[in-house]
Amino acid sequence: MTTAPSPHQPGLRAVAALLVLSGLAIGAQAQSQDAQRLRLRSLASSCAQCHGTDGHAVEGEALIRLAGLPADYTLNQLLAFRTGERKATIMHQITKGYSQDQLESLAKYFATQK
Ligand code: HEC
Repeated sequence: MTTAPSPHQPGLRAVAALLVLSGLAIGAQAQSQDAQRLRLRSLASSCAQCHGTDGHAVEGEALIRLAGLPADYTLNQLLAFRTGERKATIMHQITKGYSQDQLESLAKYFATQK
C-alpha cells in the first residue's frame, strides 16, 4: 500500500522556493545599489582635486564648490563646457571625457551633497 503524498506539500515547497528566490533577488539588488554608489563616488572623486571632496570646497581656498548646486544648473554648465559655449581653462577638456549619463549622474550626485 502506498501512501498518497499530501497535496499540500508540493505547494509549500514551491512557496518556500519562491521566498528563497525573492530573498536572493533583494540581496542582489542591494548589492548592485552599493556597487552603483561606489562607482558614482569614484567618478566624483576625479573632480575632488579642484572642487574638494564630494564638491566641498574649503573656505578661502581657490576651489570651486559643487556641493549643493542644483543638478540642472551643474548639468547645463557641464554641457556648455563640452560644446565650448561656456569658455573654460580646463573644464572643456575634462567634460569631453564623460558620457551624457555620467555627467547627469555627477550633477545629481553633487546636488545631494550638503
Ligand atoms: C584640474 C582641475 C579641475 C578638475 C579635475 C575638475 N574641475 Fe571643474 N572646474 C575647474 C575650473 C578651473 C573651473 C572654472 C572654469 C574653467 O576655467 O575651466 C571649473 C568649473 C566647474 C563647474 C562650473 C561651476 C559653476 O559654479 O558654474 C562645474 C559644474 C564643474 N567644474 C564640474 C566639475 C566636475 C563634475 C568635475 C569632475 C568630473 C570637475 N569639474 C573636475 C577645475 C577643475
